[in-house]
Amino acid sequence: MKKIIAITRGDGCGPEVVAEGIKILNTISEYTDNSFELKEAPAGGGVWKKYGTNLPDDSFQTIKNADALLFGAVGLPDLPPGTAESAVLKIRQLLDLYVNLRPIKLYSSLKDRCPLKDQFIGKGIDITFVRENTEGLYANKGAILNDNKAENLMIYTRKGCERVIKYAFEYAKKSNHTKVTSVDKANLLKPSQLWRKIFHEIAENYPSLEIEDIYIDAFCQWLIRAPYKFQTVVTGNMFGDIISDEGAFLIGSLGMASSGNIHPGKVSMYEPIHGSAPDIAGKNIANPVGTILSVKLMMQESFNSMEIASEIENAVEKALYEGRTVDIKEENIKVLNTQEMGDLIANKLKENLKK
Ligand code: NAD
Ligand code: IPM
Ligand code: MN
Repeated sequence: MKKIIAITRGDGCGPEVVAEGIKILNTISEYTDNSFELKEAPAGGGVWKKYGTNLPDDSFQTIKNADALLFGAVGLPDLPPGTAESAVLKIRQLLDLYVNLRPIKLYSSLKDRCPLKDQFIGKGIDITFVRENTEGLYANKGAILNDNKAENLMIYTRKGCERVIKYAFEYAKKSNHTKVTSVDKANLLKPSQLWRKIFHEIAENYPSLEIEDIYIDAFCQWLIRAPYKFQTVVTGNMFGDIISDEGAFLIGSLGMASSGNIHPGKVSMYEPIHGSAPDIAGKNIANPVGTILSVKLMMQESFNSMEIASEIENAVEKALYEGRTVDIKEENIKVLNTQEMGDLIANKLKENLKK
């Protein structure tokens, strides 16, 4: 299989972690029948400073014509909030990437970095958040009206709810999950009331799956009280944004969590869930695992290469016993910089693929 991968390195630690994701793509090219041609598609704050746009048309055309996009992160602390970041929303909207798939899995090699006591970790953490990715407060329907007033509209449509909820049920089915949890705020918000109604309608078609509704505020405490209770969790755009950062720290670090912005069958975007991390950018210490696991998701969701995907995950898990970036460091395990962590995982992947 020959595929074109658009590459957006972005700002801050983005280029550092993307370089490690590329190592994994190159390893796959070298050791399997697949080959990846990489095409740069610059976007973000640095690009805005040069060209006055955070997503130049050339970049978007490259992305649109690729088979998938590997994205770092965007955002610069010396620019007004949103100047760089709206590039992410533009890509999600323009490509109609309505699913944001965010797996939260605690590897046994990283159990020591989970902030919860054993009794709360229970039988382990392996949750997939399915975040609605094109509607709600993030659809850019808002304005600063004047110095004293600003607004954003939270709009959900039947089509928008149905497609992501269906995706979640299908995902649960193919993952052999037994339950789908919906997180909303239906005790107050009208869009959540529509969401909940549609969730129940769709659930009728999946009688073998148990369902539950949980309000977002309570969910935030359940996520640390009993994370082992959850399997597939489907939710709206803003709630999904927030709970995924909470989930990421449960598995060791924001740097560990991966994501796919997906429109099934179309060009999709894979990125770690973290941002440009200005506090650590340029120091070669960012954790590249979230980006590497995003390449894993790309293989799984865009290219249906389940075997390669599981070899990448296996390589990550093995590597974490031997070396770690500083955010997940542990006594008796070597501290590695970003590049060394990427090399260690790429080497484990090579060993796996050679077999
Ligand atoms: P952040 O995710 O960049 O960082 C939050 C904390 O997590 C920081 O302490 C950071 O050092 C740590 N962290 C993040 N990634 C890490 C990694 N790979 N390894 C180790 N530690 C890591 O969130 P923030 O500070 O709120 O945002 C910084 C900028 O990034 C802002 O401009 C924000 O808007 C933007 N942002 C962009 C994206 C994106 O491009 N998709 C996502 C989130 C935030
Ligand atoms: C994420 C990010 C983005 C979001 C920002 C950068 C617009 O936080 O992917 O989680 O809020 O969706
Ligand atoms: Mn976020």
